[in-house]
Parts: sequence; structure tokens; C-alpha cells
Amino acid sequence: MLCRPRNIAFIILLFVILLLVMKPRTKLQQSGSALQYLKTLQRESPEISNATLGFQQIFVINLPERTDRRDALTLAAALTEIGVTWIDGISGQQVLDKTLPSDNAGKAISKGNKGSWRAHMNALQRIVQHNITTALILEDDADWDIRLKAQLQIFAQAAKAFTQRIPGQAKQSFAQRLQADGLKGYARDIDKLPYVVPPKISPYGDDWDILWLGHCGTEIPTESNSASYNTSNLKVIIPDDDTVPPPKYLKAHPFALQDELAEMYPPNTRVVHIARSNTCTQAYAVSQQGARRLLYQFGLQTFTT
Ligand SMILES: *[C@@H]1O[C@H](CO)[C@@H](O)[C@H](O)[C@H]1NC(C)=O
Ligand SMILES: *[C@@H]1O[C@H](CO)[C@@H](O)[C@H](O)[C@H]1NC(C)=O
Ligand SMILES: *[C@@H]1O[C@H](CO)[C@@H](O)[C@H](O)[C@H]1NC(C)=O
Repeated sequence: MLCRPRNIAFIILLFVILLLVMKPRTKLQQSGSALQYLKTLQRESPEISNATLGFQQIFVINLPERTDRRDALTLAAALTEIGVTWIDGISGQQVLDKTLPSDNAGKAISKGNKGSWRAHMNALQRIVQHNITTALILEDDADWDIRLKAQLQIFAQAAKAFTQRIPGQAKQSFAQRLQADGLKGYARDIDKLPYVVPPKISPYGDDWDILWLGHCGTEIPTESNSASYNTSNLKVIIPDDDTVPPPKYLKAHPFALQDELAEMYPPNTRVVHIARSNTCTQAYAVSQQGARRLLYQFGLQTFTT
């Protein structure tokens, strides 16, 4: 049965009322103790709560004919008070084979994946062309928690253990120092991180290429897998984060095995670490340097989607 316009208006009104009723409560509950800890230390960065989440711009990739997704994301962005810039998606038919990175021969890549590849490259190209300092790139089906801004405050604090040097340590971040000292299997609670030099370029730190904020699976660093890549295995632990979904939902897709995160940590734990073997590009931020590196690597050298 079709809804009559009056019914639809009523449902929308009910929805708005529900949101209004829910909003103050979720604000109070924002990410519990970790956020409280940042507030007491006055380590919150006002920029992260701005309309572009502390990045210079937010881009969203969307095929213009998927107006449904554009509508939904427009509403979600308005509710979260963020402003986005659209990047037109590309359909696979528009991608000429001769434009693919040189190693594409023999790789069976679907038309859809070719289109998605090109759209991401176009986003990176725009960031490089306009010399944008930092940008967040979203896919149009990305979804987020209403407490996103509070989550990012906490994330930034954790990220700076990797991206920002500690005073008196020439160029070394906490993560690099632990690695240089040969410390193993390293985990540190967010409220036990050392003080870092305040960043100048980005509230997430001045030395990073990519921040992988939205994925559907990742490899948690261990002593051995980090040694083979020569990367830090620091894990910054955020306990009691009530924005982390229950363990049964922590999986790449409904039929996947449970994520390592759910196996290794108690419920409501979030972990910030070096990203590796990630799946899905729902949301990632790039610095200008990161955008240049990605465009070179995946625009010209290596074909992957
Ligand atoms: C938000 O903060 C970032 C980092 O300082 C800045 O580049 C960006 O322009 C700000 N966004 C808005 C809408 O003011
Ligand atoms: C790009 O931005 C950087 C940092 O703000 C600046 O040093 C550089 O001159 C800019 N490049 C261009 C071509 O404008
Ligand atoms: C491993 O990484 C550290 C820190 O980034 C660097 O100083 C060192 O030279 C690297 N070692 C090798 C073998 O690449």
C-alpha cells in the first residue's frame, strides 16, 4: 500500500522529533571516559568539530544518476553539520583500457571496479591540482555515528602518537621511538600517551599520508607482521568506547568471520594502529603528500581497486 502524503509528512515529523529527542542524550554519552579525559586535559581541537572535520575539504564520490544516495548523504551531512563537495562517479564504460596503470594486463577487473578506480583517482587528482593540504574522501554509501565529531577528537589524540614528534626527540614520534628502541607487542591506553608537540598543519598531526577512517576489515599489527614491513606495531587502546558496535557486528560482511578486533579485545574497545591489508575505501583522509603518492602509485603504476 502506498503512503498518502499526509502519512509521509507525519513519519518525517516523527523522525525529526525522535532525532531532536535523541540528540541531547547522545551528546552527554559521547564516547564516555576517553572524551572526558581529553576535556580535562584541554586537548580537544576546535578545528576537528568544524564543518569539514578539521580537514581542508570533504569530497564525496557519487555517480550523478544515484540521486538516492546523494539525497541520503546530504541529509546525514546536514544532521552532523558537515559540508561536502561532490566528485562525480565514473561508470566503467567510460574508462579506456589504455588509461589503466601499466600492470593491468591479465588482471580481470570488472567494469564497476574500473569506474570506481577512476573516480578515486579523479578525487586524488583534484586534491593535487588544487594543492589541498588535507582532504577526507568518502564514498556515497558511507554511514557514520551521530557522535562522529567526538570520535574524531579521540582518534586525533591517538593518531598523534604516530604523526607528531615528542618534545626533545628529533623527528621521532612515540611510535617511532618505541620501534627504534626495539620494544615489542606494544599497546598503550590513550590516557597514557606522552605529550606531543602541537601540530601546525593539521589537527591530526603534521606527518601522515593516509588516515584510514572507514574500512570493513584490517590486519592488526603484531610483532612478526610489523617486523616484515618495518612498521610500528603500536596499538593505542581506547577502552569503554560506547560507540564501538557489539562484537557480533564486527565483521567485514554478514557472512565473514568475526574481525580480529572482537577476538582480541573486550567489547567497547577501539584500537588505533598502522593500517595494513585494509578492505573497503568508505572513508579515508589524505594529506597533499599522501594524495601525490597515491595518484602516482595507483594512477600510473599499480592497478588495484
Ligand atoms: C576546518 O579546519 C581545517 C584545519 O584547520 C581548515 O583547513 C578548514 O578550512 C576548516 N573548515 C572550515 C569549514 O572552516
Ligand atoms: C602548495 O601549498 C604549499 C603549502 O601551503 C606551499 O608551500 C606551496 O607553495 C603550494 N604550491 C603551489 C603550487 O601553490
Ligand atoms: C625501519 O624503519 C625505521 C623507522 O622508520 C628506519 O629508521 C629504519 O632505517 C628502517 N629499517 C629498514 C631496514 O628499512
